[in-house]
Amino acid sequence: MSQYLNYAIELAKMVDGQTGLNPPVGSVVVNDGRIVGLGAHLKKGDKHAEVQALDMAQDAAEGGTIYISLEPCTHYGSTPPCVNKIIEHGLKKVVYAVKDTTLPSNGDVILKEAGIEVEYRPNEDAALLYRDFFEAKRKGLPQVTVKVSCSLDGKQATDFGESKWITNKAVKQDVFKLRHQHDAVITGRGTLEADNPQYTTRIENGKDPIRVILSKTGEIDMSLDIFKDPSTAIWIYTENKQLESKHEQITVTQLEHCSIENILKDLYTRGVGRLLVEAGPTLTTTFLQTEFINELIIYYAPKLIGGSGHNQFFHTEQVVDLADVPQFEIVNSNLLEQNIKLELRKK
Ligand SMILES: NC(=O)c1ccc[n+]([C@@H]2O[C@H](COP(=O)([O-])OP(=O)(O)OC[C@H]3O[C@@H](n4cnc5c(N)ncnc54)[C@H](OP(=O)(O)O)[C@@H]3O)[C@@H](O)[C@H]2O)c1
Repeated sequence: MSQYLNYAIELAKMVDGQTGLNPPVGSVVVNDGRIVGLGAHLKKGDKHAEVQALDMAQDAAEGGTIYISLEPCTHYGSTPPCVNKIIEHGLKKVVYAVKDTTLPSNGDVILKEAGIEVEYRPNEDAALLYRDFFEAKRKGLPQVTVKVSCSLDGKQATDFGESKWITNKAVKQDVFKLRHQHDAVITGRGTLEADNPQYTTRIENGKDPIRVILSKTGEIDMSLDIFKDPSTAIWIYTENKQLESKHEQITVTQLEHCSIENILKDLYTRGVGRLLVEAGPTLTTTFLQTEFINELIIYYAPKLIGGSGHNQFFHTEQVVDLADVPQFEIVNSNLLEQNIKLELRKK
């Protein structure tokens, strides 16, 4: 029944954002009309969802059906192939919602040869869940979300640099959830110095993201609050060869050229699968000009700040033809009290 596959997809959605370079996967084992096992892949290196569910089901899995949000794996990674476990438990049927296009896909054949019925049941919701993940894995780059809080005229701060409470407290809570769903948050030195932020996740059971700071000059004020909190790692990217880490939790990476592509590649190799950009107009504009972003989330406050275009979240010196400007599609919008959250995907 589709409801069991939907449960598996819901489980996958619940762990989305905590599995690093691995996909979020959910699984449900059903026998005689009863759920006998549930599982989700909780973090890279941990048991896969199918294994969790089968370990819970034990002997009750025999002759049953396993529903999985993603095709079961057939390769030896940090854990053995899931198809082996499914065969060992004597299941009658496997139902999955999405084919993994990043791995050699011969799971169906192996399972069928073992006498197990296999059904690929495509599901739009699940396909959306994995779309960016597959693309990121193929390119070896994190999935990137750019977040902006601004006035109706797109200002992230006044010309005096005042930005606290452009948007409201409901937005702040929502941003905490965004941080929770990403492995790392990236910002520029300008924001650090203007706002003295912490980039923590102040929600119940929230996970703090790794904090990534960009500064080509490396002229960073190490007395800022972010450097006083040793709980989460801080990674600095700079072109300054003299900059050294003064604390255990700070890693300084010197790059010859701090291009966004070089930084993203390095972040991916260090295990960052999802990156949230929470920066001022300089870095925000830089990211928005690249091809590397997946999502743009804008929180609009019903205010007009005016002044110059200096703190507008997207401003360029160069004027391009309308046909060449970055384009987006709106995927969602909702009201957070008196502020609007607009979720967009890069076209
Ligand atoms: N409302 C909001 O959503 C929001 C969010 C954040 C900030 N803000 C506001 O934005 C203002 C700060 O703006 P901003 O444009 O200065 O901040 P920013 O974009 O966060 O930081 C700019 C700095 O980042 C570094 N940088 C940029 N690109 C880099 C790259 N590719 N590699 C290495 N380093 C790079 C440079 O530091 P170096 O000069 O050291 O090389 C640059 O000066 C403040 O008023 C703040 O309150 C608003």
